Amino acid sequence: MALQQGVPILPSWLKPSIVPIAFFIAIALRLLYTAATSPTRDLPGPWYSRFTHLRLKRAVMSGQRSFYIHSLHQQYGPIVRISPNEVAISDIDAFREIHKIGTKYLKSEWYQRLANFPKAGIFTMIDPREHGPRRKLLSRSFSRSYLLEHWESTVREKVELCVSKIKKDATNDVADVYHWWMLLASDVTAHLAFGESFNMLQTGQANQFMRVLKMLTISAGIMVELPILRIFRFVPIPKVQEIFNCNEYIFRGANRAVELARSRSGEKNVFAKVIEDCEKEGEGTIDDMDVMIEASNVIIAGTDTTGVTLTYLTWAVLQRPELQKALEKEVAQLPSNFTENDLLDLPLMNAVIEETHRLYGAAPSSLPRVVPQGGSQLGGYYIPQGTTVSTQAYTMHRDAKIWSDPLTFNPYRWIPTKDGGVAEALTPDAKTAFHPFGVGARSCVGIHLAKMELRYATAFFFRECKGMKLGARTTPDTMEFENFFLITPKGHRCEITLNKEKMLEK
Ligand code: HEM
Repeated sequence: MALQQGVPILPSWLKPSIVPIAFFIAIALRLLYTAATSPTRDLPGPWYSRFTHLRLKRAVMSGQRSFYIHSLHQQYGPIVRISPNEVAISDIDAFREIHKIGTKYLKSEWYQRLANFPKAGIFTMIDPREHGPRRKLLSRSFSRSYLLEHWESTVREKVELCVSKIKKDATNDVADVYHWWMLLASDVTAHLAFGESFNMLQTGQANQFMRVLKMLTISAGIMVELPILRIFRFVPIPKVQEIFNCNEYIFRGANRAVELARSRSGEKNVFAKVIEDCEKEGEGTIDDMDVMIEASNVIIAGTDTTGVTLTYLTWAVLQRPELQKALEKEVAQLPSNFTENDLLDLPLMNAVIEETHRLYGAAPSSLPRVVPQGGSQLGGYYIPQGTTVSTQAYTMHRDAKIWSDPLTFNPYRWIPTKDGGVAEALTPDAKTAFHPFGVGARSCVGIHLAKMELRYATAFFFRECKGMKLGARTTPDTMEFENFFLITPKGHRCEITLNKEKMLEK
């Protein structure tokens, strides 16, 4: 009405040009307020991190978070402010304090935002009174003894099939080990969680469930930083839904895990035992929704992690012909019907696996925890309660005070010296700093499964695929890390081929 009569909506003193100026003044005041009240304002760190988390978010969105934080540690030291409310920590005593058993530094609510399931699961539970019983229930099904008794033959069969596929492709032309190791890890975790094989190694292809899952690890990391992107889940286009509504897809698939866990006949999955233990001992309860969530957790947490680790292991060894030869020789000495217990006795192979975890650990990113009531003194600084403190394996595994020549892939640092001296990687500080599977009460519940897969896969690969080399299209550039909580090679491939000249020389 006012416009129709030619009367301006804004008073005459509020000219249009004043609006943006007022807006910028409001933002500036807001930033100044944030900086003045930030609990981290007196800590070392770049000046802008006192005002905003935008630079950190940029690093997250571009898959650079761990490297950005590492560069800040190199510039500012072991305690560094990375946003107004978050501090990155690489001081070893502070690390011990944050992650010790019975710690009061609990997981931050970042984890709950990451999962976006209707209920929390083992990975996202924050309260130790909720997490402890769940952890106890799952730990039994993933204990080394239980896995050896019930799942070793499944793991072995799948590894053998996977290595035969790699060998065939590499002998004919090139094999993409990233593709095959991912399928192996997917087939193993899916079989354990569901109780039936997805047969992806047979078909050579990930099924839709796995494709969506892959999306999840990337999109969840991005959406946790920019929740507004969740509105895309309402766009009725299947491809868009696969990316932005992937939790729902995963969930529908996970229903099958419940069916098989509750079925009294046929194939069993790990949750059948969990349910049985619950009923037998009356220790806590686990309903169908919990089974779906935990089945998804197991697959999410156990797939890319193991697949990527094997990819970097293959890449690291094939770049070093002397090491490759030594490893091939060690595994060739195994009896043909070797078991996991035989694999524990191979010093070089186990050292190669540990060194891969050190430099190419699949989950090297920040593990955010919250400073408890009363605040704390960490690394010589007072950090107020409620601040998020994050430690990252990426930095602690490259600390020159702990590791000699830290950027060099050297498995021999894990093997005691010939004169009986302690291996460098087994000194107390190195043992504390090394945590590819996380640490304390929240460390990886799938560690024994992962280790079994890694040992079998490494042993079979270097026995069956002798004399391989990297394909021409696999370069340090394509193998550079992308970091969305986990790492992945930038090229999303790692090609190998049979070194025919070497074979002819023999
Ligand atoms: C090389 C392979 C693997 C690596 C490097 C790895 C790494 C990790 C890390 C670093 C954490 C701690 C995360 C945090 O504190 O935020 C973790 C937790 C977890 N992992 Fe793994 N993992 C691997 C394989 C697996 C497998 C095969 C499973 C399948 C059972 C699994 C299941 C889990 C679960 C359920 C948790 C949450 C435990 C809890 O909070 O109590 N992981 N893993």
